[in-house]
Amino acid sequence: MAMKIFFSTFLSIFLVCISEVQGRKSLYSLNGKDKLAPFFRSDSDGICKSMVDTQGYKCEEHKVTMKDGFILSLQRMPARRSGKTADKPPILLQHGIFSDAIVWLFNSPDESLGFILADNGYDVWLANTRATTYSSGHISLTPNDQAYWDWSWDELVSYDLHACVEYVYNQNGQKLHYAGHSLGTLMALAAFSEGELLNMIRSSALLSPIAHLNQIPSPAIKVAADIFLADVLYWLGLREFVPKEQEARQLLEKICAIPEVNCSNLMTVFTGPNCCINSSRIDVLLDHEPQPTSTKNMIHLAQMVRNGNIAMFDYGDQAQNMQHYGQASPPVYDMTSIPNDLPLFLSNGGNDTLSDVNDVDVLLHNLKDHGKDKLTVLFIEEYAHVDFVMGVNANRVVYQPMMNFLKQYN
Ligand SMILES: *[C@@H]1O[C@H](CO)[C@@H](O)[C@H](O)[C@H]1NC(C)=O
Ligand SMILES: *[C@@H]1O[C@H](CO)[C@@H](O)[C@H](O)[C@H]1NC(C)=O
Ligand SMILES: *[C@@H]1O[C@H](CO)[C@@H](O)[C@H](O)[C@H]1NC(C)=O
Repeated sequence: MAMKIFFSTFLSIFLVCISEVQGRKSLYSLNGKDKLAPFFRSDSDGICKSMVDTQGYKCEEHKVTMKDGFILSLQRMPARRSGKTADKPPILLQHGIFSDAIVWLFNSPDESLGFILADNGYDVWLANTRATTYSSGHISLTPNDQAYWDWSWDELVSYDLHACVEYVYNQNGQKLHYAGHSLGTLMALAAFSEGELLNMIRSSALLSPIAHLNQIPSPAIKVAADIFLADVLYWLGLREFVPKEQEARQLLEKICAIPEVNCSNLMTVFTGPNCCINSSRIDVLLDHEPQPTSTKNMIHLAQMVRNGNIAMFDYGDQAQNMQHYGQASPPVYDMTSIPNDLPLFLSNGGNDTLSDVNDVDVLLHNLKDHGKDKLTVLFIEEYAHVDFVMGVNANRVVYQPMMNFLKQYN
């Protein structure tokens, strides 16, 4: 969620934090000791304990080690609230940037997708991407090491997504459904465009889909992208982008200085006017979010905002690209290569500034040869970016139609 940063709900949320609740407790506070706190967490204070057990659902903590050393946590909800074991296929939920699996559990069990899917008989798995609180472990590195932050969403595709899909497939033994929000949709679209994971996936639901990013109407997001791209070496030197820390605040000050930007509601500035979020829960959200990401990831997204293409991270000079990719420019993820028979459910909102209507139209054009019976598009005029995960009416508006779609492929 930051240039399009946004990509997730995230930016907006993080911006809310920065400006309105500085000093709020943070897992990544400026105090160096607290900064390491996530590394000493045990499963006993994981997401199962804090978000799921308390609601009376079964929950298991799992750990998966990536080929590049990150150790991710996954939560599994294998039964309904009644205790009845799941009798439908597994489904993996992937959050967006600045976020973690908590977004799927945040509202009440009747409003949150994680609980709703469990109550409908799915074997629910929640992913947490690298460097978020519950996936911050690494076999040899710590966040103080430069190498720990040397990744963008390319690695979220090639390592995190791959490993999580494979893990769930192996544990359950059946092909899985996938559901992503925001950056979690880009990760899947990129993998599918390369023909990856298809042997383990039965269908994919994409909420607030992110693919092309260069028609975003928001001046704030464009300026954020320009700021990252104007000084790539500075940002890469910071390695970690922590929304609540000083560099992010300075970035925000620059953005809010633009006359077209009204920063009185930062959530709206970066994600659009969300119609249906319970504002009395924002404080609770800020106890968990936003989560940090790498500055390299932010730069990668900024490149997309500026260029309009969907390609791997651009090292900015031909020699370095050659060294990484064997070609002078970064390889492109070609959305027209997504197999036409892959069942896709795509839902976007008319008021979403990150997954903006024009960019989604380009994606739909890429998918124009997709089997008509394999592509369901649900447009929700009044929704903005965060409504898809936190809207109090999302069950009726999005999740019920989504489950009707899944049912065809159970
Ligand atoms: C900014 O938005 C707030 C709330 O929507 C509004 O009250 C205020 O007048 C706006 N400021 C400007 C300069 O437009
Ligand atoms: C909004 O959140 C408050 C506080 O958690 C809760 O009491 C209320 O029921 C919520 N409203 C809806 C519509 O979910
Ligand atoms: C989109 O947001 C604007 C500004 O908040 C609002 O006036 C408009 O009604 C919203 N659009 C829809 C379709 O709800």
